[in-house]
This record gives sequence, structure tokens and C-alpha cells, in this order.
Amino acid sequence: MDKDISQAVISRLPRYLRYLGELKDKNVERISSSELSVLMKVTASQIRQDLNNFGGFGQQGYGYNVDYLYSEISKILGLEHQYNFIIIGAGNLGKALGGYLNFEKRGFILKGMFDKNPDLIGTEVRGVKVMPMEEVPAFIKANNIDIAVLTIPKEGAVLVAKVLVENGIRAIWNFAHVDLDVPEYVQVENVHLSDSLMKLSYNISSYMESNKDKEQ
Ligand code: NAI
Repeated sequence: MDKDISQAVISRLPRYLRYLGELKDKNVERISSSELSVLMKVTASQIRQDLNNFGGFGQQGYGYNVDYLYSEISKILGLEHQYNFIIIGAGNLGKALGGYLNFEKRGFILKGMFDKNPDLIGTEVRGVKVMPMEEVPAFIKANNIDIAVLTIPKEGAVLVAKVLVENGIRAIWNFAHVDLDVPEYVQVENVHLSDSLMKLSYNISSYMESNKDKEQ
């Protein structure tokens, strides 16, 4: 696979997958780029350009085979694998993520949760127990854990990430508001929901600004 695919394209692929998944559920077998364009509200040329990064998948006069495109995009996103993950920080956010069933459908399997608060040890989310932090290293090794989700405050996150990496974690989904200092081979995806909210705020204000005259 071409390694130079832009992150912008990669970030659009999950949306294609979502729409294709819905088409699959409705037993739609094929779709043209223009039909997909109407559905997804993006231009047909954007769709063709995006999918051409991976060799196209479409056929002139036929469009795209929904099942095939779905499984190829899944492969590109690495979703044909199963990933085991743990959550560090069983507070509000950790519990909400742990309780979300759809991750499992995509092949992300929650194996364990950890917290430093003794009151939370032994509590469960969907049958998965919260364990003490001392058990993290042995647990990672015994359960082939691929991904750690960090839902703890920024103060402890850098140190916890170090321990995770030392014990074999190669990917971190980081919700703590701090940049982690990890070796290059460790994949980190930082999530800041407030960034998305600020984008929304920007769009509200710029929409109001550009429509000011019309409303008067
Ligand atoms: P919370 O206070 O409900 O949960 C935090 C949990 O982490 C607690 O159970 C606490 O005992 C545990 N914890 C703290 N330090 C720890 C450590 N060193 N090792 C193990 N466990 C530790 O907070 P909430 O609402 O779940 O948020 C968690 C963190 O995520 C917060 O720091 C918050 O700023 C951040 N956050 C980030 C968001 C984002 O979009 N990136 C969105 C919401 C929250």
C-alpha cells in the first residue's frame, strides 16, 4: 500500500465506511460515485480522487461494488485485525468509552480497565473489572494488549504512558490534555473534543457574520 496517503484522506475513510456499512445493511450491491456523492454531500470528484489513492475500486459504467469497497476500506484502515485494548482511568470518560459497544463491532475488544482510586477497584463496566495500576504490566503481557486508552488527568499521563510503553504497548488513544513523550514506533492519537467544539463555535460565528446583512 502507498505509504504517502495524506492524513486528510485517511481521516475521510471512516465516513465512507459508515455510509457503505449502511448501504450494506440495506442490501445495496453497487453504487455510482455520483449517487454516493449525493448521499454523503461531497463531490463525486472528491470521492474518485480519494479512492484513486488506493487503486480506485470502481469500474466505468458499473460504479462501486458496496461489499468490496467496504472490505477494501476496512483493510486500509487495518480493521480486519482484532485489537485488544485497556482503559486507564475509570472515571466518567473511561466508563463511557468502556460502555460503548460499537468499538467491539469494529474489532476493538475491551480487556481490562485500571484506576488508581481504590474505591473503583472491583467495579465493572460491561462485565470488565477495574483493576489496580500495579497490575498493568503483567496484564498487558498476559492478554496481548495492543492499545491503551488514557482517560486520566494530564498530571499522571506522561508517567503512565512511559510505563505502558515499557511493558509493550504500541498504540495510545490519548484523551489526557498533554503531549506524550513516547518513542517514534509508538502510535499516539490525541483526541481533544474541545477542538471540535471550538471548530463548531468558529462556524457558528462565521455563519452569523456572513449572514448579518441578510437578517437585517
Ligand atoms: P474523572 O475524574 O471522572 O476520571 C478520572 C479518573 O482517572 C479517576 O477515576 C481517577 O482516579 C483516575 N486517575 C487519575 N490519575 C490517575 C493515574 N495516574 N493513574 C490511574 N488512574 C488515574 O474525569 P473524566 O471526566 O473521566 O476525565 C478524565 C480526563 O480526561 C480528565 O483529565 C479530562 O480533562 C480529560 N478529558 C478529555 C477530553 C478530551 O476530549 N480529550 C474530554 C473529557 C475529559
